[in-house]
Amino acid sequence: MDKAELERVARAMVAKDKGILAADESSGTIKKRFDVIRLESTEEHRRGYREMLLTTPGIGQWISGVIFYDETLRQKTRDGVPFAQYLERQGVLPGIKVDMGAKALAGFPGETITEGLDGLRERLTEYYQLGARFAKWRAVIDIADGVPSRFGIEANAHALARYAALCQERQIVPIVEPEVLMDGGHSIGRCEEVTNAVLAEVFHQLDLHRVYLEGMVLKPNMVIPGKKAASQASPAEVAEATVRTLKRHVPAAVPGIAFLSGGQSSPDATLHLSLMNGLGPLPWNLTFSYGRALQDTALRTWGGKAANFTTGQKEFAKRARLNSLATTGRYVAAQEAEAA
Ligand code: 13P
Repeated sequence: MDKAELERVARAMVAKDKGILAADESSGTIKKRFDVIRLESTEEHRRGYREMLLTTPGIGQWISGVIFYDETLRQKTRDGVPFAQYLERQGVLPGIKVDMGAKALAGFPGETITEGLDGLRERLTEYYQLGARFAKWRAVIDIADGVPSRFGIEANAHALARYAALCQERQIVPIVEPEVLMDGGHSIGRCEEVTNAVLAEVFHQLDLHRVYLEGMVLKPNMVIPGKKAASQASPAEVAEATVRTLKRHVPAAVPGIAFLSGGQSSPDATLHLSLMNGLGPLPWNLTFSYGRALQDTALRTWGGKAANFTTGQKEFAKRARLNSLATTGRYVAAQEAEAA
């Protein structure tokens, strides 16, 4: 393991003014996204959509890395350049989702465990050869009555740490993603309590598994009320609760934290990030690793039509640029009105 190289890549992923595009929707998830625009999920449509996003002119100014799904890492631009190679030329790091999804946790109704450890070493070796320099594994923690259990948190943290150690052995920077879902009607206080418990266990397991903290990136949820909660929190409350929670559990050795958007609207996700970066100085860089909050407007503008390729790219560039500003606390909501 070349620790200095892992650290160099991790730092590049969370560099100021930049963040990560999560374009690693599995075949099932991208089908759901395409259903919204009434587009059939064929391999060519999936390829064309990802090509639209990542050939956006100037992408390297705002985006440090793109997370792919297995199929996408093997795809090429219409000019025949593998996506990973195309990104490298723009100074953007290619990454790969390596988990095999969250499956029901036997004996614990309402909880899941993320699968994909068997054979992972061999898959990582191939992904490195295909150009991937970082990976992602997502653990999913729901909040409901009696959920999550202590055991559910421990099982998911253990799997995340095993994944992270394997990545580093194969010279790939792990994005460690424990996602506490914002589904349901829970309060911001309950989200904070669960996120505290999850992060405490995740860093305990990372330590036990001898994961090199300087060579990883954390991808957490923000501390936020459930979507159906009667009482919603102000953006300032979300920012403060999230930073307070992270400070309690994330060692300063971790170079950066790249949030998921988790179902927040695109402007909310940008505003929350910007407010957090205004609360500094912080021990780590805070940035984005958004899927929906970067893609939603671009996807709807593109709508699967070749004629909208450039306008779709403009919408993506706008969101990438606004989130880039948020990494230094320079985003204000009025910028939403600017032309794409
Ligand atoms: P969202 O930002 O849409 O939550 O997706 C990020 C991600 O990679 C979830 O695993």
